[in-house]
Amino acid sequence: MGWIGLFVLVVIVCMSMGISIRASEEKGYEMPLNCKKVECASYEVIDSQKEYEIREYKKAMWVSALPINSSSYEDGAYKGFNILFSYIQGNNEEAAQLNMTAPVVVDIIPSKDPLSNSTFVVNFLLPHNYQKNPPPSTLAHPVELPKQNYAAVRRFGGFISDNEIPLQVLALEKSLNGTKWESSIVKKSNGNAMTYTIAGYNSPFDKENRVNEIIFWFDK
Ligand SMILES: *[C@@H]1O[C@H](CO)[C@@H](O)[C@H](O)[C@H]1NC(C)=O
Ligand SMILES: *[C@@H]1O[C@H](CO)[C@@H](O)[C@H](O)[C@H]1NC(C)=O
Ligand SMILES: *[C@@H]1O[C@H](CO)[C@@H](O)[C@H](O)[C@H]1NC(C)=O
Ligand SMILES: *[C@@H]1O[C@H](CO)[C@@H](O)[C@H](O)[C@H]1NC(C)=O
Repeated sequence: MGWIGLFVLVVIVCMSMGISIRASEEKGYEMPLNCKKVECASYEVIDSQKEYEIREYKKAMWVSALPINSSSYEDGAYKGFNILFSYIQGNNEEAAQLNMTAPVVVDIIPSKDPLSNSTFVVNFLLPHNYQKNPPPSTLAHPVELPKQNYAAVRRFGGFISDNEIPLQVLALEKSLNGTKWESSIVKKSNGNAMTYTIAGYNSPFDKENRVNEIIFWFDK
């Protein structure tokens, strides 16, 4: 068997073992360290750039806390997270304890009236063994997410503060400006403040290697 034959054999073996030989598997942001410990929402990277990446997510079941109105992300996200944390610790109708997953995802719906509060919806990815049968509870209701499968994502570190969020939103908008993604994402907001999402991969107790992402969802 010549070299070409050997190469073809290796390719066939890789393919039959499900090993991808496409370089595209390696592109994009690195997997957050925490995803070695807990189950993480999975996605495929469609376009990887220095300032952002475009992903496609498959739909999965999550649970959402009731929407919380607040003037502050730190306040709204903290309240929502505590509700879901109680839910996974067993405060549900089956007294079931669910494993932690990542990221915790906070949808932010800015108020149209600048004097009213934004609305925060905190979501938790159900672990694989509860995907089909989330324990019922008045604290949290099951939802299929994401509603739009494509995500423009910008990653940042540290603890998320109210001051930093608008800067991250602006930076993501800027980096998408003039790209082929702009028309599907930025323009649809029509001058209104757009709904967006913040994903946090760490527990409040992790002091280092914190990974956060700001996400604009869209349909292609
Ligand atoms: C939260 O705000 C939205 C719109 O600003 C409003 O429709 C809703 O009733 C408010 N919810 C609560 C619980 O105050
Ligand atoms: C807005 O949020 C603050 C807490 O950040 C809260 O004290 C206030 O009651 C909220 N106002 C409304 C109208 O929801
Ligand atoms: C829950 O997490 C623990 C620790 O990571 C793991 O050993 C266990 O298998 C997980 N349980 C399920 C049902 O996945
Ligand atoms: C995007 O580009 C347009 C001009 O092409 C500019 O008017 C707008 O301010 C830019 N937006 C951001 C967020 O940089």
